[in-house]
Amino acid sequence: MMNDKKMGLKSAPTRGRTLDHAAFVYDALEPVLLLGKQAEYDKHIVSLLDLNESNRVLDLGCGTGVLTRMIADRLNAEAGGKAIGIDAAAKMIQVARKKRATVNCAFEVMAAESLSYEDVSFDAVVSSLFFHHVQMDLKEKALSEAFRVLRPGGRLVIADMHVPVTWMGSLVSHVSRWFFMQPQIGENIRGVLPDLIEKAGYQRPEIIATYFGYIALFSTQKPEK
Ligand SMILES: C[S@@+](CC[C@H](N)C(=O)[O-])C[C@H]1O[C@@H](n2cnc3c(N)ncnc32)[C@H](O)[C@@H]1O
Repeated sequence: MMNDKKMGLKSAPTRGRTLDHAAFVYDALEPVLLLGKQAEYDKHIVSLLDLNESNRVLDLGCGTGVLTRMIADRLNAEAGGKAIGIDAAAKMIQVARKKRATVNCAFEVMAAESLSYEDVSFDAVVSSLFFHHVQMDLKEKALSEAFRVLRPGGRLVIADMHVPVTWMGSLVSHVSRWFFMQPQIGENIRGVLPDLIEKAGYQRPEIIATYFGYIALFSTQKPEK
């Protein structure tokens, strides 16, 4: 059987800031960036999805798939439960597939602003630390694509950089914006996400928690009708 490398897995075209270059060190870096709280943070996100074992869940900008796999482990493949992680960076998907794919945990190279899934094909959509990698128009497109594939009443949970609420959070987020020369971070810390989420058709999101003074956990739903 051919592996991803031999098949020449290619990154998806996007204007988003992809992390192909960081794929092989990402699993070592993220626990440090999340100050040793990655498991608690991921578990909190999963709890907000209110899963049942037969759910189909889509993870946007999944990176190496730690969160996707945590979700899949709570689902039952025989009951149809499945988690799918997508990322525009082929190298992230290679690492995710190698380390975390299972019978009900799959990973695909895909841009969040242009999903290849059918309408109403997921029970929940989740995303962690992805939206600060894409500029406004792609934030909007990714939200509206997620809306399209989500079933009515389905849950959207987003964890991402937002208006900082502590001086340390403010320092970290403003330094990151300038250090990485990433205006997309500037948009997040100005607080654009709740309005964009609502504009895409979801209920107004609630902020359930804030981590490290600058990462907000948003939870909302696609209206039933
Ligand atoms: C900071 S990482 C977050 C990874 C993971 N969700 C986590 O919480 O650790 C952001 C990810 O978004 C991906 N990305 C950037 N632009 C994208 C796009 N337009 N569509 C899908 N993924 C994208 C990057 O390649 C990167 O893997």
